[in-house]
Amino acid sequence: MSRISRRGLLQTVGVVALAGGTVGVSTSVGNAAPIGKAAAGNPPPDEDGHELWLRYRLISDQTLLSAYRSAVSYLVVEAAGAMVRSAAEELTSGLRSLLGQAIRTEGSVTGPGAVVLGTLAASPVVARTFQSDKLKSLGDEGFAIRTTGYGPGRVTVIASTGAAGVLYGAFAFLRLLQTGSAIDHLDIAESPANPVRMLDHWDNLDGSVERGYGGQSIFWSNGTCVTTPSRHQAYARAAASIGINAVCVTNVNANRSANKKLLDSARDADLVKLADRLRPYGIRLFISPSFASPMTVGGLPTADPVNHAVRAWWAKTADRLYAAIPDFGGFLIKADSEGEPGPVTYGRTHAQGANMIAAALNNHGGLVFWRAFVYGVGDPDRAKESYELFTPLDGSFASNVIVQIKNGPVDFQVREPIHPLFGAMPHTNLTCELEITQEYTGQSTDLCYLVPQWKTYLDTPVTDDGTRLRDLLSRYRHGGFAGVAGFGDDADWTGHHLAAANAYGFGRLAWDPGLDESVITEEWIRPTFGTDPVVVETITTLLRTSWPTYEDYTSPLGLGMLCNQGDHFYPEPRVRASTTHADAHGVGYDRTRATGSGYSHEYAPGIATIFEEITTTPENLLLFFHHVPYTYRLKSGKTVIQHIYDTHYDGAARVVLYSQAWARLEGHIDQRRFHEVAQKFAGQITHSALWRDSIVGYFNKLSGIADTVKRR
Ligand code: GCU
Repeated sequence: MSRISRRGLLQTVGVVALAGGTVGVSTSVGNAAPIGKAAAGNPPPDEDGHELWLRYRLISDQTLLSAYRSAVSYLVVEAAGAMVRSAAEELTSGLRSLLGQAIRTEGSVTGPGAVVLGTLAASPVVARTFQSDKLKSLGDEGFAIRTTGYGPGRVTVIASTGAAGVLYGAFAFLRLLQTGSAIDHLDIAESPANPVRMLDHWDNLDGSVERGYGGQSIFWSNGTCVTTPSRHQAYARAAASIGINAVCVTNVNANRSANKKLLDSARDADLVKLADRLRPYGIRLFISPSFASPMTVGGLPTADPVNHAVRAWWAKTADRLYAAIPDFGGFLIKADSEGEPGPVTYGRTHAQGANMIAAALNNHGGLVFWRAFVYGVGDPDRAKESYELFTPLDGSFASNVIVQIKNGPVDFQVREPIHPLFGAMPHTNLTCELEITQEYTGQSTDLCYLVPQWKTYLDTPVTDDGTRLRDLLSRYRHGGFAGVAGFGDDADWTGHHLAAANAYGFGRLAWDPGLDESVITEEWIRPTFGTDPVVVETITTLLRTSWPTYEDYTSPLGLGMLCNQGDHFYPEPRVRASTTHADAHGVGYDRTRATGSGYSHEYAPGIATIFEEITTTPENLLLFFHHVPYTYRLKSGKTVIQHIYDTHYDGAARVVLYSQAWARLEGHIDQRRFHEVAQKFAGQITHSALWRDSIVGYFNKLSGIADTVKRR
């Protein structure tokens, strides 16, 4: 990641009044005063953020508006079913708002201006417009959109072989208008790169959300399902609009939360209700029960996976669930991890545990997502453990088991190397778990746009033949992405208006990991905040630079885990010495084979060699792999200790600039969201200064080496 120059940031956001400095400027909240309101008309009406990127505001560009109005005036629906109805409703209301004109529905194409929604089997227009083989090759979730001539005018046909594809095509068409794209000669064909595009909610039945920063659960309250269908419909629309097709509505920590008895039959009615609300948007329902459910719910004395009564209990439970919800998705299981029970308790392997549950679901087409997040059971280097446990099991998992692996080997740190299990389990379905909710990346206070981080993982080679993570996952029958979503019942869902960009980006990348970061960013900003160039440019810069900025003032050089235990928000480096290996002389975890934990050799040989050597290890991961003296010189010529000092000051200083850049948007966006985000930046200034002072102070005291820069 290229460093962000202060001058570059200033130029992009136009904060010229402060230009001219170099790195190392001091920061204080006092510097963050708005530098004056930019010229703008009356601000638009207040918004609470609830509509997310589905706001569908009237197109303001008059040329575009009249082109769109003449291309789109009515809808023809040539397919049936709930998902097609959702697509038609979304198009009718979305187009009406975007174009400021009524969109009528006709029984057939009667003239130009039609938007036809149809499936190959049901729609004569689709059958006439597309070659059936080509359309079929896109699959039931894929879609094609084409403009065809009709007399002197044109019609637009949105087609698929499946109802889900029609729904995704409808959202894609709306996105074209939301982003101001030309729609008069469309010829688009898309299908998702990954079959698994899932959101995992760590929601508890009592309404609390583990690592959620946007309020209480949208699914559960006081032990039962939340009754407001409108909230669920709004959620399902947003999820479907980015291609999400599976949602797990309960916390992976099933046993230690209020979810112990999740599989009690008394809960079935709630699950039916939730499945009914998600189904019209192409989303299958998953839940995360405890591995010990045969005991906690079934009253058996054991949960041993080879026990006949245990196996029969899971089978009976699955039969019951599928009788109630025939398209039920299946289970997400956290086992033998952080206190959750699992097969290892009974001397069995993870494969035995997963396969036993998978057998119960298999008759019904259900899936088991089995998490590989296991540590604290063997090797003192936590990063090594899941590889050690899972690689010997490759090939022994059932075909409806998917091993779900976090992007890195530790725990959603601001930067970690890619998890070595990717590339090491060719015979097992794998899904990559990313954390959308910003547990370790500022929660709902700090701006940290994770799309650039995720892109670096997706593009990272995981085998010696250069296969990138994104290529690998799309090869599996059930491969793809699961995102830990922090959506809650706050009006704005995430607790920070800009944080929803992460949810948006997650879905878009799960659909197409090849999408450019800049495309995703703009696709989110324009529908969410409008097309004013000042707004688009400013928010783009803020988002684009926010991850490296967060890294700079928290944990540069791949050190990681400097936060407090518990809520993971504040700096507390003193309690983390066992992972940072910081002492009076140096810092960093030696994970080489030559002298350290040997973690580096969990990678394919070519990749292992890179990490084994200090000179070839990327510097942004230096301290993840190597223990170095504070005086070790980086390629920049700086010592490690001076780099730590400088990055913390630079990062925190940049947050002050963010706040000033945001201040310039007053009048360009609605006052409510303007002020709410301004408040967030004020909080981030305080938080980043706290991180800076705490980390700099800690290393200064520990090393006894003075900062060579005089800070103002
Ligand atoms: C992290 C997080 C926990 C979570 C766990 C997991 O450790 O802090 O809240 O339960 O990850 O992914 O299972």
